[in-house]
Amino acid sequence: MATSVIIGPSSRELALKVADKLKADKIFVQHKKFPDGESYTRLEQLIKKNSDVIVVETLFPQNDSIVELLCILDVVSEFKPKYVTLIAPYFAYSRQHERYLKWEAISGRTVAELIDKKVNKIIMFDVHHKKNLFPFFKKAKPVELTAAKRMADYFKKVKNVFVIAPDQERKGFTDIVAEELNCDYSWLSKHRDRYTGKTVSHLLHKVNLKGKNIILVDDIISTGGTIISAIEILKQHGVAGIYVATTHYMNVAGVREKILAAGAKEVVTTDSIPAGEISKIDLSQVIVDALGKK
Ligand code: R5P
Repeated sequence: MATSVIIGPSSRELALKVADKLKADKIFVQHKKFPDGESYTRLEQLIKKNSDVIVVETLFPQNDSIVELLCILDVVSEFKPKYVTLIAPYFAYSRQHERYLKWEAISGRTVAELIDKKVNKIIMFDVHHKKNLFPFFKKAKPVELTAAKRMADYFKKVKNVFVIAPDQERKGFTDIVAEELNCDYSWLSKHRDRYTGKTVSHLLHKVNLKGKNIILVDDIISTGGTIISAIEILKQHGVAGIYVATTHYMNVAGVREKILAAGAKEVVTTDSIPAGEISKIDLSQVIVDALGKK
């Protein structure tokens, strides 16, 4: 069966790598914004009948890429593909997977429901809260992959390491990074004020971090507030250095600089969301390996 990879505009480089590794047909997408802000989308090639179609489109920038993706999927459906897999390394709005305050919109559910009936499978990376998000998909099969092993590979050059996450929710992730690096790990405990958004953190376990190189890992860096308050706490424990790594870096202007100014030696991320020179961790092989497992 022919495999076609749709080179989604928000994930162009990653999609090209995936298509090359799979030796699949590449379907490019013509896209532009009209002066009034609306999106124009057109597939530049036809999709062979009965194809296995893989759409690679990360959901960032959130609102534009969601509309672009829905337009792409509508055109794809006209070719009556056999199976459609969406690779959306970052799944937008996944942090609002439940209602914290009365009458809030559960926007993670809204976005999941928009896409659910249009694909057979959806693959995403390091989902903020899989247990709450995945039940929103009723037809498509959601699959979570992790960047944790690739992240650990990146830090194998650093000695005397200790892995920390800024909150206990990242347990499954820190375990993998620490196991690969053959070191200990722990978490901070974080509390967020739901009205102001401000967070307060402290070290959860009694651990000796003196002289350690901390690999500080999180699923998302948006404003940098969470990571910076974690750095402030870690600095009080006599650590040798702090290296920051995240699966999804939301490209908010000035955030990397603020994190470095707070005391981090380096900030790195994956190509889940293209972030220029700091997107040093390539996820294409993780995706290709997962596609092999039906
Ligand atoms: C929240 O619990 C997430 O895991 C991240 O820590 C959070 O979304 C990061 O956001 P920010 O960079 O704005 O603090």
